[in-house]
Amino acid sequence: MSNISNRKDDHIRLALDQNHQAQLGCGLERLTFEHIALPQLALSDIDTSSEFLGHRVSAPFIIGAMTGGSVNGERINQNLAEAAEYCHIPMAVGSQRAALEQKLDQNVRHWAPRATILGNLGATQLQQSGTDLAKRAVDSISADALIIHVNPLQELIQPNGDRDWTRVLEAIHDCVNNLAVPVIIKEVGAGIGPSTAKMLADAGVTWIEIAGRGGTSWPSIELARNNSTKEQQVAEPFIDWGMDTADLITTVHSTCPDINLIGSGGVRNGLDIAKCIRLGAQMTALAQPFLASALESSDAIIEKIEIIHEQLRWAMFLTGSKDLQALRSAPLTQARL
Ligand SMILES: Cc1cc2nc3c(=O)[nH]c(=O)nc-3n(C[C@H](O)[C@H](O)[C@H](O)COP(=O)(O)O)c2cc1C
Repeated sequence: MSNISNRKDDHIRLALDQNHQAQLGCGLERLTFEHIALPQLALSDIDTSSEFLGHRVSAPFIIGAMTGGSVNGERINQNLAEAAEYCHIPMAVGSQRAALEQKLDQNVRHWAPRATILGNLGATQLQQSGTDLAKRAVDSISADALIIHVNPLQELIQPNGDRDWTRVLEAIHDCVNNLAVPVIIKEVGAGIGPSTAKMLADAGVTWIEIAGRGGTSWPSIELARNNSTKEQQVAEPFIDWGMDTADLITTVHSTCPDINLIGSGGVRNGLDIAKCIRLGAQMTALAQPFLASALESSDAIIEKIEIIHEQLRWAMFLTGSKDLQALRSAPLTQARL
């Protein structure tokens, strides 16, 4: 098995451990909707459907990027893809780098022929390999969009991570100009702030997945894999680095109103999804919450999706919002701390 596959299996094992969830919240817990005691609608009338990349999806959440190329990864992706297909929910695959380098089969499109599927590559690989790699990532799974992840903190803490980011923005710009599908830029848990969002908007990017701090903590996971006490001491002050998801959705939405946002990083249930939509996100994504079920079966993921979907419907009912458009103006208060 390659080093990348070993690393991916370590990530799956460690991400399942609650000790590697961020200690600080993602900010959504500070927000409370005004309770509407007279919803004036029937629960059965609520419409959670949404338009995403030209497709109608049943609810505004994506199965977040987790795995592309490892032994466990193939089983996880089959379960996730079958559930995405059944529930009409989009699915993002994890980094396709190992699968492309090792010429492994990527069967996600076979398991989810009609679902909205998002490909995934790291920004630093594109800097090295150019748009050709990006095209292969998209073509290999007939992806509806390509997610490019930017993860400078994770790369710093990761043993042998990429330290040279000089041409990443240029590589993103090239992908935006040369791919036939949209490009989505995402972080992995430190968030994309307003200055970065502006740079991306200037490069032609129209979708950003926030992936703010408050959910899966990559500093914590990578530190657990790093045996060097010296490197651990360097990294220690950065364990809580980043900005929380709720702050970032609000700030980026107001500074770059034309960018479409996917709220993610610590989104854990349907109520969190409702709050992200209310703050200005078009869509949301959850990764770690699907991991345990993904190791089990597609039925387990379908049940998890149904629970999250029902929580979203309850949040919409209790705010008197019959659809996502109405939810966007539901009264929201900042909780007293
Ligand atoms: C096991 C695991 C593997 C991941 N691998 C990738 C990846 O390959 N590419 C990527 O863009 N993000 C990856 N992520 C990051 C997630 O997509 C997400 O941005 C991050 O975990 C924060 O969301 P969460 O709090 O819902 O987990 C991974 C997350 C997990 C839990």
